[in-house]
Amino acid sequence: MSDLAILGGQATRTEPWPSWPVHDERDIEAVTSVVKSGQWGGYPYPGPRTEAFLRKFEELQGGGYGVAVTNGTVTMEVALRTSNIGWGDEVIVPAYTFQATAAAPMAAGAIPVIVDIDPETYCIDPKAIEAAITPRTKAVIPVHLGAQMADMDAIMALAEKYNLIVIEDCAHAHGAKWRGQGAGTIGHFGSFSLQSSKTVTSGEGGVLLCRTPELAARAASIIDCGRPHDGAEQEFTMGANFRMSELHSALAYVALERFPAQAKEREEMAAYMDEALSEVPGVRLLKRDPRHTSRSFYCYVFAINPEVFGMKHDVAVAALQKEGIPSSEGYEAMNHYELFQPKLSKLPVPSAFPERFAFEDMVLPEAERACQGEAIWLGESAFRAGTKGVDDVVNALKKVQAGAAELKSLAVK
Ligand SMILES: Cc1ncc(COP(=O)(O)O)c(C=O)c1O
Repeated sequence: MSDLAILGGQATRTEPWPSWPVHDERDIEAVTSVVKSGQWGGYPYPGPRTEAFLRKFEELQGGGYGVAVTNGTVTMEVALRTSNIGWGDEVIVPAYTFQATAAAPMAAGAIPVIVDIDPETYCIDPKAIEAAITPRTKAVIPVHLGAQMADMDAIMALAEKYNLIVIEDCAHAHGAKWRGQGAGTIGHFGSFSLQSSKTVTSGEGGVLLCRTPELAARAASIIDCGRPHDGAEQEFTMGANFRMSELHSALAYVALERFPAQAKEREEMAAYMDEALSEVPGVRLLKRDPRHTSRSFYCYVFAINPEVFGMKHDVAVAALQKEGIPSSEGYEAMNHYELFQPKLSKLPVPSAFPERFAFEDMVLPEAERACQGEAIWLGESAFRAGTKGVDDVVNALKKVQAGAAELKSLAVK
């Protein structure tokens, strides 16, 4: 019988990984105190727990004016609406991201324009941004994917040149820094998710960091049913209830207290992983840009060269999962999501420019290479299980590679 777990052999790891989210008495006390206070919801906005959480979050990222929101998708919609971006406007997004990055412009009435990624970082390629700019382009949403950051120097230079709003999608980038400056504080807005899998979580929730108090006041109106938040007598604006509740803010505050120690542990184990993985033939680590001064590990993403490694990522991941390794193939390339095809989504695509939105003809070679054969994502739990956890991942990967010939029949793509 084969050694490979997927073919009936013994799994490399059978002991459980550290669970997520982490919790202890502090969470119970925090929630209990909100329950007893009687102020459970997010109205009046911001409540005391939300206020305390936002100040602590701004401290973690080292800047910005925070607005607490229901999730890390609405944050981006609100950033666009705060910037008066909507119907008929174009917003550039990367081809390699969670659907939310492109769904948010659509929710604001704008058209997501999908562009390719830099193969070295898997983040949006600034050259592709520039090539996609038209007079209708109003914003760009770079995504700091996995443990990487997009090239914020190049993106901010383009923003200045073409007068674009930059919304950093930091759903994966809590605590990350670029030249010592926090993710989400470099562009005009930083969008953070606090959904259960994220490294700062309250189950659900989101933070929109704004560059100025004026932008934050406008965003606060939009998320608080349009109530004025600028301190002046002002009319209601168009808004909705996107407030984060006091219960969620209380949990998020405790999560922030734990975050620095967790981040340190993940970084130490990731550095160990970098070394161990670079010895595996056919494995390519994503670029370690020296300007990316502090990494954050929602997921650790690396690439395999299917020719050298011996198989594509779908087979490797299927085999790794059976070896007990928390791994996945990651996202699909954005042009493969039917949701973003104008004829299905009823996007208001200008009839004058049909070729820009012919999704079936869209060519995004770098994103497609990553999504169809190269990328392997490791879950953050593998970085909280000591060196033994990293060793298990690397040993499983080597074992899977050694079984490449046996795995040939499993190729599905
Ligand atoms: C890159 C990215 N952007 C946005 C989001 C949306 O966050 P939420 O689920 O809080 O709406 C996610 C969530 O997984 C994400 O991974």
